[in-house]
Amino acid sequence: MRIDIITVLPEILESPFSHSIIKRAQEKGLAEIHIHNLRDFSDDKHRRVDDYSFGKGAGMVMAIQPIEKAIESLKAKRNYNEIIFTTPDGGVFNQKEANNLSMMGNIIILCGHYKGIDQRIRDFYITKEISVGDYVLTGGELAAAIITDAVVRLIPGVLSDETSALTDSFQDNLLSPPVYTRPAEYKGMKVPEILLSGNDKLVDDWKQEQAIERTKELRPDLYKKYLED
Ligand code: ADE
Repeated sequence: MRIDIITVLPEILESPFSHSIIKRAQEKGLAEIHIHNLRDFSDDKHRRVDDYSFGKGAGMVMAIQPIEKAIESLKAKRNYNEIIFTTPDGGVFNQKEANNLSMMGNIIILCGHYKGIDQRIRDFYITKEISVGDYVLTGGELAAAIITDAVVRLIPGVLSDETSALTDSFQDNLLSPPVYTRPAEYKGMKVPEILLSGNDKLVDDWKQEQAIERTKELRPDLYKKYLED
């Protein structure tokens, strides 16, 4: 899978993809992540990418020219399944959307900034608008990092034990059960006896029960979905 991210702040995106699982996914050739500086596509001699909004409206707007050029230059080289714009106006990102995107070949993520982008970009190029939650970030870079991270780890082969993605929280609308490691007892605090029993069936049943109980208590909204699906 290939993800092209268009941003005015490429520096913000240097670290999130340079470590651990996401770094290894790229080294293994399972994911290609390319960061593009929007200013490189500006025809303005000062490399400007924003301008005043028409009409009365406070704030600067990302201009159509550099974005159109950046998107067209990528589209000239390959087909894209989705051109995503990160914005608080979008549909709220969730595990279902992460699964959906992880099955795609090529996607573009355009990071929003300032007071928004020229509406014509949204009308003519953007195929999906995604928010990472009902709060406002200073820009779309962190949202693009969240989306990319959640998607790349789902690509088959990225996680060493493939089933570990399948047993993630949210994969079946349930939170994960609690986990423990050694020692079995620490300062009087004990690991549940059943986990030490060596009986796989009992352990699996206990984990499922715990997942259901935790979801019911902590995320009644998810629990409702679990019962419905
Ligand atoms: N840009 C600013 N806030 C955002 C959000 N919540 N999700 C996606 N992009 C954003």
